[in-house]
Amino acid sequence: MVSSDVRTFSEHLKGSKRIMALLGAGISAASGLPTFRGAGGLWRSYDATELATPEAFEANPDLVWQFYSYRRHMALNAKPNPAHYALAELAKRNKEFITLTQNVDGLSQRANHPLDQLHLLHGNLFTVKCTSFYCNYFRENDFTDPIVPALAIPKNLPEPPPYSDDKTAEEASESLQNAMGTGEQTELDISDERIPLAPLERELLPHCPECKEGLLRPGVVWFGEALPSHTLDFVDDWMKEGRIDLMLVIGTSSRVMPAAGYTEMARSKGARIAVVNMDGKDTGPGKLTSQDWSFQGDAGVLVPEILKSVIGEI
Ligand code: OAD
Repeated sequence: MVSSDVRTFSEHLKGSKRIMALLGAGISAASGLPTFRGAGGLWRSYDATELATPEAFEANPDLVWQFYSYRRHMALNAKPNPAHYALAELAKRNKEFITLTQNVDGLSQRANHPLDQLHLLHGNLFTVKCTSFYCNYFRENDFTDPIVPALAIPKNLPEPPPYSDDKTAEEASESLQNAMGTGEQTELDISDERIPLAPLERELLPHCPECKEGLLRPGVVWFGEALPSHTLDFVDDWMKEGRIDLMLVIGTSSRVMPAAGYTEMARSKGARIAVVNMDGKDTGPGKLTSQDWSFQGDAGVLVPEILKSVIGEI
């Protein structure tokens, strides 16, 4: 029987040195960002994972850029939640704790997670790189939003003032101007397919400033692409260094390899596993045992709670 007992978990946590965490989109759900699978997994009529491929970019770079520009915008407007801060605090207190994140939203970084203890498995929304075969251009920490004017999220025009017979044309125009000036324009939710989204000409998409030829693309790992080899090598070396005490698996459906494979690898190095997930069935590719823990609920609430014995109140 898998435990959900915070007391036994806390005891084990206090005695743990080498700890690894694997994070997925669920940790950022409490910050208002949609996950890939389940509710929120559709972007317009597309499965979000359909748009995350080199083939999708090749065929429809404008659609894929609209998707990623929207995600950049959402991530920039979201704030890290207590789970991000709790893990950052654990990392500051324990230099032998490493976090592997599948998230590209930058929220762990913005919670001041020590960067040398945070390993990005799937890249970062705020890195862009040239798609030309001959060009190696990339730039990091590009937080411009929109990255090019054509990718600005379209806005609703304010409602025109009600028509009234007793207004002169001049007065009507003035009250329209006033309404326009109130800043009440609201962003359209372009993740909803009922909102029309015009195709964009290639010239309007982000281009490489160096070779001037290639389109820029988001610096994330797409399906079918290799994960960054320096990250994989680092994690392999870290795992080989010795026994692992604890593996935290937070807010991931554990469906995507190789990331999901780290849980069983950690187990084979002695780790006890603790899963935090909204869905009690998403416990990873292997079976949890009576030595493990499963905490079901919102990571934003549960992570600070289960780490409290070591990090204190967040
Ligand atoms: P998924 O969308 O597959 O899974 C999100 C997980 O978070 C699910 O298990 C949910 O039950 C859980 N969840 C949702 N809300 C939660 C909350 N408030 N608290 C805790 N858990 C919650 O996302 P990932 O596992 O991250 O890859 O997906 C892995 C990879 O597949 C992504 O990095 C992305 C995607 O396609 C690429 O783009 C390469």
